[in-house]
Parts: sequence; C-alpha cells; structure tokens
Amino acid sequence: MKIGELQTFKQLGEKITCLTAYDSSFSKLFDECGIDVILVGDSLGNVIQGGENTLGVTMEDMVYHTQIVAKGIKDALLIADMPYQSYDSAVQTLQNAKRLINAGAQMVKFEGGQEHEASFKALYDNDIPVCGHLGLQPQSVLEMGGYKVQGRDEAGAKQIIEDALALESWGVQTLVLECVPAVLARQVSQALSIPTIGIGAGVDCDGQVLVSYDMLGINTQHLPKFVKNFLKDNSDVQGAVKAFIGTVKTNKFPDDQHSY
Ligand code: KIV
Repeated sequence: MKIGELQTFKQLGEKITCLTAYDSSFSKLFDECGIDVILVGDSLGNVIQGGENTLGVTMEDMVYHTQIVAKGIKDALLIADMPYQSYDSAVQTLQNAKRLINAGAQMVKFEGGQEHEASFKALYDNDIPVCGHLGLQPQSVLEMGGYKVQGRDEAGAKQIIEDALALESWGVQTLVLECVPAVLARQVSQALSIPTIGIGAGVDCDGQVLVSYDMLGINTQHLPKFVKNFLKDNSDVQGAVKAFIGTVKTNKFPDDQHSY
C-alpha cells in the first residue's frame, strides 16, 4: 500500500487493515496474507520486552525493530512508533523521525494532540508523513491514571474532536483512535477527510488495528474488551490473520461485544 492509498481507501469506503509486527518473520507473514499496514508499535515494550508499560522503550529499540520488520515487507505500508520522550521538541522530533524513516518506515506515529503542534509542523515541513494517535495514549498511562476509555464525557469528547481536526490541518495523514466510545469515533471519522484507524473504537472507523500478540492469543494478560483471539477458530496463524482481514473488510469486526 502506498501512503496516498490511505485516503483513496477512505473515499471508496474500503476498510484499512493493520497489525503490529516486531520482527521480519511476522511482517513477512502478515504481508503475504494481504495486510494493508504494518505498525512497529512501541507495544513491543509489553509484548516483547515484558514491561508493565511502554515507557521503557528507546529510540534504539524502535530503530532496530523497524529495520528487521522492514526486511519482511513487500507491499504493506510500514509505520513506526516514536517512543516515550522522543518527540518533546520540534528539533528532537525531526531528528528521531528521520532515524525511523532511514530504518525503513514510510510514516511515523506519535501520541498526543495540540500540545505537539511544533512537532507535527516540523515533520510536515520536512515531508515526513505522520500518523496521529488520540484517545487512550499508553505513553501517558501514569497521567491518565490507568488504561481507561477516553472521551466518555462531553469535555473529553470535545477535546478529542478538536485535537483530531487540528492534526488534520497540520498535515497528519491518518489517525489512530484508541479506546474511545464507538459513537465518538464515528463522529471523528465523519468530521475528517483523513482515515481513522481504530483500536477499541468501534466499527465505524476507516480501518482497524490490533496488537498481533493479542489477536493471536500469545499475550493473555490484562486483555482489554476490544481484543479478539482470531487464532481460536483457525488452525494456523495465516488463517487467523486472514480472518482478521476478512472480518474488518466486511465490517464484522469489531462487533458490539468488542466496542465501548
Ligand atoms: O504500540 C502499539 O501497538 C500501538 C497500537 C496499540 C495502535 O500504538
């Protein structure tokens, strides 16, 4: 998938499928199954490094995993996460984003809204494609007081909508919405011309992402309501990934049971 196709998918109403990968074996398998986007998520802090949260993930970790994930990909779009405290100033954001692009990413993702205006603008001015991430922001788990659904109250919902519109106006090309009520995610998706990719954000986002170790049942700890184990009803990993792609493309996942 090319970056420009993200917008085309939204215009055509074709759902975007995304899974996280942390090494070349998984990225090759996902790519061959026909996944649209692969995310080198800083969730590697949990599922690869065994951390309690993502705060210990470093730029060196992200560069290494982006390099090895990139080796397995032929067709999918590769997005890499910017880790905790790697985008505190515009200069630092640009420097670190360039490292991820040089490692093989086609787009970088970082968490947060209007407080990062200078960072979003610095990347736009330097032609580095960006994916935003609003709603639950795992790197802010300590400030947020845990992994909780965001935007349930009026003020929280308004903030997410305003942040989403600001990010779009600063050139962000796609937006992850994590753990927000399905009704709010639908409202944000309709308000934006860029695609939203939901995780725990209901079926009306323009695409869906899951952490691969969760949807394959490898990680069984602290699983949120939105996670579905796709390997349970399939005999191999390829079958599980194709089932994920199929159910997302046909609007069957996430159902109400996996939404807020
Ligand atoms: O790090 C990650 O895996 C992510 C997804 C949860 C979207 O950011």
